[in-house]
Amino acid sequence: MFGLVSLAVALCVHQAAAHGGVLSYSIAGSWYQGWNPYNTPTGQTSIQRPWSSYNPIQDATDPTLACNDDGTSGALQLTATVAAGSKIIAYWNNPWPHPYGPQLTYLAQCPGTTCTGVNANTLKWFKIDQAGLLSGTVYNGQWGAGMMIANNNTWTTTIPKSVPSGAYLIRFETIALHSLPAQMYPECAQLTITGGGSLAPTSAELVTFPGGYSNSDPGLTVNIYTNEAQTMTTYPIPGPPLYAGATVTVPSQTGSGSPAPVSSTTTVGTTTKPATTTTTTTKTSASPTNTAGAAQYAQCGGQGWTGPTTCVSPYKCTVSNQYYSQCL
Ligand SMILES: *[C@@H]1O[C@H](CO)[C@@H](O)[C@H](O)[C@H]1NC(C)=O
Repeated sequence: MFGLVSLAVALCVHQAAAHGGVLSYSIAGSWYQGWNPYNTPTGQTSIQRPWSSYNPIQDATDPTLACNDDGTSGALQLTATVAAGSKIIAYWNNPWPHPYGPQLTYLAQCPGTTCTGVNANTLKWFKIDQAGLLSGTVYNGQWGAGMMIANNNTWTTTIPKSVPSGAYLIRFETIALHSLPAQMYPECAQLTITGGGSLAPTSAELVTFPGGYSNSDPGLTVNIYTNEAQTMTTYPIPGPPLYAGATVTVPSQTGSGSPAPVSSTTTVGTTTKPATTTTTTTKTSASPTNTAGAAQYAQCGGQGWTGPTTCVSPYKCTVSNQYYSQCL
């Protein structure tokens, strides 16, 4: 009996493997299993709000845009306690297949001492980090979602020290732009934030879901395959402006606490000039004759980076920001 159920679940997961969502979390170093949409809800305990399929949401007016389908608290709903200032790592399916699009993280405070039983559609959300087009063009640049993939399909966010203590939902989201309508993948988890500050989000920083996005938002309607996209170097990230207490716009994805990026172990080709590979800095492009180094799209530099700092020919190590350089 158990074997048959396991087999059925395995088949379902296999069929749905093209998409997915946040499957687990690491909060201040502790591991939290997410909800499994392809197991029976009975008996499941998680800090994550229940969701029911790996499919994307493709309509900004869909009520499930808040916390996926259906995003109400589970019968055995758990809540994680986390100190303001802590890091939370969200783990997506490995490998996440959609590198073109933004990453966004939101918080919403619940009115009482717990979010259990609170309808996510009634809450006001504020954005605590975002990463859109990091470098290059809309057509083939480096995106927040690509950075998530490069970091072992994880995204690390920091609970701002300034947020008031209390009960919150945290909403991690990746948006995929490889086809239209855009594909939104949000999941929520319940938190009790302790040791917080006193900087309440302003009304301009707060949105509802649905409501925070519109189906006509340029960030959701852009066609990344047009000729125009080949010269576009800016991308408007959907949603409200960042919360003023958000300390970073692109958090370090290679800092302590994050899993080692996949690319750190990927060295392609043979080293023909060992001296050059050990002295090249992250801000220096790889020598055109270099035949060793990281693969195309792999990380090759950034604060705290200890992996290869050169790229296989003909790619160049290109600085995205102080935390991230990539072979392009
Ligand atoms: C990458 O993530 C998977 C879960 O998707 C985890 O099991 C594995 O340990 C991670 N790898 C590293 C190097 O952190």
